[in-house]
Amino acid sequence: STPLRLGIAGLGTVGIGVVKIIQTHADLISARCGREVRITAVCARDRTRNRDADLSHYAWEDCAPDLARRDDVDLFLELIGGEEGIAREAIEVALAHGKDVVTANKALLAVHGQQLAESAEAAGRVIRFEAAVAGGIPVIKTLTESLAGNSIKRVMGVMNGTCNYILTRMQSAGLPYDTVFEEARRLGYLEADPTLDVGGIDAGHKLALLAAIAFGTQPAFDAVEIEGIERVSIDDIHRAADMGYRIKLLGVAQSTGRGLEQRMSPCLVPADSPLGQLEGGTNMVVIEGDAVGQIVLRGAGAGEGPTASAVMSDVIEIARGVRLPTFGQPASALARPTPARTAVP
Ligand code: HSE
Repeated sequence: STPLRLGIAGLGTVGIGVVKIIQTHADLISARCGREVRITAVCARDRTRNRDADLSHYAWEDCAPDLARRDDVDLFLELIGGEEGIAREAIEVALAHGKDVVTANKALLAVHGQQLAESAEAAGRVIRFEAAVAGGIPVIKTLTESLAGNSIKRVMGVMNGTCNYILTRMQSAGLPYDTVFEEARRLGYLEADPTLDVGGIDAGHKLALLAAIAFGTQPAFDAVEIEGIERVSIDDIHRAADMGYRIKLLGVAQSTGRGLEQRMSPCLVPADSPLGQLEGGTNMVVIEGDAVGQIVLRGAGAGEGPTASAVMSDVIEIARGVRLPTFGQPASALARPTPARTAVP
């Protein structure tokens, strides 16, 4: 059997995590795929940086689009990030050159996913993105594969570990928002642009992707109603606790008689519920299907191992010859969602 040859663009936390899994689990992966999965080439912004992995056997490219067009790459891994720019260009180049794509890029897919899915379909290629939503939690495959026999009623959850850390810590230590925000910054939890986290944007990107898959619509980040956690005060947290509630940055996507509601905002959840008890940097996704009932998935939403685990599930799916449409249905079948604005006074 022919090996599947990977080109990895981006050697940050996620990229290096993927390299390590492929190196340590080479035998296990070939046994599960019936073929070898091998890295042939890589690229990263800074080639000289000291990385905690042996990269000496791989070819280096100077830029991601050059990596994406190499003849010895079958599957292009976009692990760079960013809503525009080089990541998007490299994915388009990969598809145009007949390569499948695995990406962890929620911002790009939430905004331009429909167009990329159409490009992939026109090229007869696939794009998979398990790592883009809730890190290590296999929520995309749960929806597109395990629950494919259900009509999905609602998807909700905590999808930004940093916000969950901040809110949980305010509650447990009785500290004000600004103090805990600084603490999160010192610990390195915040994105380079912290607004992506605390403004609810990162979590909103993830919700847009889940909603598209769950409800068979185009991903539409601009249809997600978003409120971040910046204005949650320690008084709010205390008052909620007095009533038996916790405040969580909660995403909800549900089909209503008025259209598709997609909302990411600070919400009260009962303190003794699974969502209320969710601590620190973790994520939780709750799915309700008509046949299965309610499912709760919980785990690490970020970090090297968990995110790389999700990327590998896509790599292995493609190595096995499974070729699912990007959002679970042919791109041409997806319409833009009709937003159901919630009635807020
Ligand atoms: N900043 C994100 C989080 C990382 O805190 O969950 C994963 O997208």
